[in-house]
Amino acid sequence: MQQDVHLRAMTADDLVAAHGLCQAAQWPHRIEDWAFNLDLGQGLVAERDSTVIGTAMCWPYGTGAATLGMIIVSPDCQGAGIGKRLINGLLDRLDGRSVLLNATQAGLSLYRALGFAPIGEIRQHQGAAFSVPVVALAAGERIRPIGRSDAQALVALDAAAVGMPRASLIAALLAEAEGVILDRDGEPAGFALFRRFGRGYAIGPVIAPTITGAKALISHWIASNPGMFIRIDVPGDSGLSEWLDDLGLVSVGPVVTMLRGPMLDRAATPRTWAIVSQALG
Ligand SMILES: CC(C)(COP(=O)(O)OP(=O)(O)OC[C@H]1O[C@@H](n2cnc3c(N)ncnc32)[C@H](O)[C@@H]1OP(=O)(O)O)[C@@H](O)C(=O)NCCC(=O)NCCS
Repeated sequence: MQQDVHLRAMTADDLVAAHGLCQAAQWPHRIEDWAFNLDLGQGLVAERDSTVIGTAMCWPYGTGAATLGMIIVSPDCQGAGIGKRLINGLLDRLDGRSVLLNATQAGLSLYRALGFAPIGEIRQHQGAAFSVPVVALAAGERIRPIGRSDAQALVALDAAAVGMPRASLIAALLAEAEGVILDRDGEPAGFALFRRFGRGYAIGPVIAPTITGAKALISHWIASNPGMFIRIDVPGDSGLSEWLDDLGLVSVGPVVTMLRGPMLDRAATPRTWAIVSQALG
């Protein structure tokens, strides 16, 4: 099968086919979510007889890091090395960078074989019926809307927490997301964005100095969107999973965060309490 499959760069014309593959894999992304990802990064498709049978995408951040995602091979073409070719095709372009991805069970052994090692876990929580928590903030802290002059501070908070410079990602998110800031004595200390994604809405990223700050930011979006389908993907070591389960945003399964290359330089505080998406990190 390998011989009649060729790889080429993904273009906007491939998004309908890519979306079809993702629906077959029961992933919730809308075409708009694919388009958002492609605008920010680059992708490869595997094609046979002019039909797209596989996809993989990457998002370089600065000169030292990147994430990999949207890796899907049509069920009837799996196990023939197409996934491996797609990932190697992207890794060739990312030489010398630390590459991060969130692996499903289906991809784990393939990624291990390509030099990725587990460094953590992401737990996907979601639901539409939840109770609204009350979170008391420390003195001097308040939640406020994001203003025009906050963008640079958000980029800096995000970069410190994730260990990757993501100015273009944050700018693209701010163009379509709503956002709130955790303000501490008049300075942005954290933030949380809320946007359309998949079956409903997603909260993320959530960047904050403390778990209480993170809970206050998340609570803001839960309280202002009763009955909406909301998803949030949190690190396994965040300590947020049980709290989210109790609120009615239940865990629907973990993915394994894997890294290839040197560890990212992440600050101890602020830290990431929810990622943007499993693909974008
Ligand atoms: C994960 C996924 C992309 C892998 O794609 P794939 O094309 O099947 O991957 P490959 O064929 O390159 O490798 C898969 C396995 O086949 C084996 N393989 C590779 N070349 C082979 C060949 N020529 N003949 C037989 N087996 C082969 C690999 O060693 C690997 O073995 P493993 O079972 O130990 O992992 C695919 O399973 C998929 O789309 N799953 C659903 C979506 C998903 O979960 N994506 C991952 C998101 S992180």
